[in-house]
Amino acid sequence: MKRRLITAALPYANGFIHLGHCAGAYIPADMYARFLRLNGEQTLFVCGSDEYGVAITISAEAEGVTPRDIIDKYHFANSEAFARLGISFDIYSRTSEPEHTRAAQEFFLDWLRKGLLVEREEGQFYDEVAKMFLPDRYVEGVCPNCGSDKARGDQCENCGAYYNQIELKNPRSKVSGQTPVIRKTKHWYFKLNEFQEAIEVYAESRAAYWKDNVMQQTRSWLKQGLAERAASRDLSWGVPVPLPDADGKVIYVWFEAVLGYISATKIWAQNQGTPEAWRDWWKKSDDNIYTAFLGKDNIVFHTIIFPIILMAADDYVLPAYVPANEFLNFEGQKFSKSRNWGVYARDFLQDFPEPAQIDALRYTIAANLPETRDSDFSWKDFQVKNNNELAAVFGNFVNRTAQFLHKYFGGAVPVLPERFAKLPEAWELLTDDLKREPLGREESRAKYESKHLRYFNPDEFAVLSALEFGTRRIAECYHSFRLREALLETMNVARAANKFFNDAAPWKTVKTDPDQCAKTLYVCAQLVRSLAVMFAPVTPNSSAEALRMLNTDSYTGEPDAKAAGVNRWNDVLHPLLAQGAMTAPPKILFGKIEDATVEKQLSKMGTATAAETVTEEELLGIDDFRKIQLRTAKVIAAERVPKSEKLLKLRVEIAGKERQILAGIAKFYTPEEMTGKTVVVAANLKPAKLMGLESQGMLLAANDDEGNLALVTLEREMPSGAEVR
Ligand code: MF3
Ligand code: ZN
Repeated sequence: MKRRLITAALPYANGFIHLGHCAGAYIPADMYARFLRLNGEQTLFVCGSDEYGVAITISAEAEGVTPRDIIDKYHFANSEAFARLGISFDIYSRTSEPEHTRAAQEFFLDWLRKGLLVEREEGQFYDEVAKMFLPDRYVEGVCPNCGSDKARGDQCENCGAYYNQIELKNPRSKVSGQTPVIRKTKHWYFKLNEFQEAIEVYAESRAAYWKDNVMQQTRSWLKQGLAERAASRDLSWGVPVPLPDADGKVIYVWFEAVLGYISATKIWAQNQGTPEAWRDWWKKSDDNIYTAFLGKDNIVFHTIIFPIILMAADDYVLPAYVPANEFLNFEGQKFSKSRNWGVYARDFLQDFPEPAQIDALRYTIAANLPETRDSDFSWKDFQVKNNNELAAVFGNFVNRTAQFLHKYFGGAVPVLPERFAKLPEAWELLTDDLKREPLGREESRAKYESKHLRYFNPDEFAVLSALEFGTRRIAECYHSFRLREALLETMNVARAANKFFNDAAPWKTVKTDPDQCAKTLYVCAQLVRSLAVMFAPVTPNSSAEALRMLNTDSYTGEPDAKAAGVNRWNDVLHPLLAQGAMTAPPKILFGKIEDATVEKQLSKMGTATAAETVTEEELLGIDDFRKIQLRTAKVIAAERVPKSEKLLKLRVEIAGKERQILAGIAKFYTPEEMTGKTVVVAANLKPAKLMGLESQGMLLAANDDEGNLALVTLEREMPSGAEVR
């Protein structure tokens, strides 16, 4: 039997995960893992925290604590958030585990033995003020490839080029802001170049299966040519280079973090009491299929670097699929930590702790997965998806069926009347027919409808063929990583079920044709179970709830070796609920999300909290700051802008020159108050148009969370035009 190994990129334990991470890797990986488990496939889903490297030390410095404090804080916070989001890892480990250190050091020594590492003294940037070598993210400058001035350390965010640090032009230290010097230091260089051809062959052999974005990035890296890369760094926080003369040297995080997948599997195997079992998953074999989920910023590390490491080690399975996603935006804008733009998982979980609300989030993200391009999360959409899809379609069908069973059938699955007694067998024949010869929705209808009309009326036939088509199609979608489509098709089956209830109108037949009514509700009860299983990869909590209502096994794809073999994907098609089986009283699966809730969430976005720290990407050099010319300006006239509550039109004078500035301060300052004031303006902004009027600059003012505003003014008299720094 095939074994399917799934990894999701190890998030850095230096920040809280947000919905962008969830959409990039964790929700799709979890949907996939749950589907496979439900489908009876042997699955192992591995993840953990990435706890070494410069990213962690920078955060520790910013928060004024030790790296250990940082990783503990974020590892536990993130592993709890993942658990509450229902991400069904078999293990969520951490790279600070001793087992990981052992594994990474073993690999390092193996590279050395195989002659893949060369020890060399080479120049590296050294900050003479801070007295330290500057690892990648501590230095930025101009990209040697595209000229972008935001290039950092060894990689350019703008063009994706990956180079040796000292090729960076106009380097600046991010520690002191100074230009670093080049000093010699010893490192171990990995001969990636020896694998150029092997990786080309490997990547091209996957071209039919990998998405365009994955192939493109991989090919463009290979085109630049693989070069020797330092596999060590001068840092104190990391896996020490396991050699006698290597004080202060650690293994470069990208050569070590990816091994976290393997060390996590080892720890998982030990926890199972079968320490050798990790090999079953990582050993190269036709039965082992490895899929790596990750966001687009991690692609080449999983299509080039990690495969090289695996090839070098011999006998390891390589990633067969790398379904990397693009980014998720929030309300149309990029995630930004410092602007507090985006939604952290923990904030969501605090405001929406109910299992059904968590399902609604999973559903909304799944419906918007950035599979082929960046996509968007909006609160309005979250509300619409919950109210108009989950509650109105899936939840509604489950609820009206349960209500009806309790009102007219004593809460039991109806016992089929004599004339429909053969229905369960006929059902099996029909679905087998459809399975044997898979046809599209319309064709199958024509071909089989007449044959099966003895047992099924057209409405019943329609809903059962929608069910059969759905399970087959959805399984295909999961197997080819089209998860958005899998969800869409799942919802289509729920729509078909609702339509069936409407068309069959049991509230009428209960009086006119009780036999038919019993048959209808028998079908509906089975469909509730089918839908609960089909939705389980996306909405595991609500699926389990629906299955509990039916008093049946409520397995929804968790890693549970002992899970009973029922309610699996293949069982979705056949009736399994026995006639007369009792169901529990109905519960509403999905509550409504109100407008006020949406508005409250919207108003939270963009209000930076005091505790926010600036990410290292957002640090500015002093030169960047100096680009903004701040000047004192004297307000010589002010008036309201007609039809605007917010804007005042100001004439200001800066060192003898006048200009017009529009300022959004009308709620806080009257025109009279403003006249004669000395304020501070950003004087070299491009002119902007507001309400059809030109604004030639911007006033500085402080804003708080409640929306209050106060102008920046001067402590002492100064002439207009004075420079503010
Ligand atoms: N920590 C990295 C990031 O968040 C991902 C590491 S993935 C691994 O971008 F494969 F190296 F583990
Ligand atoms: Zn570049």
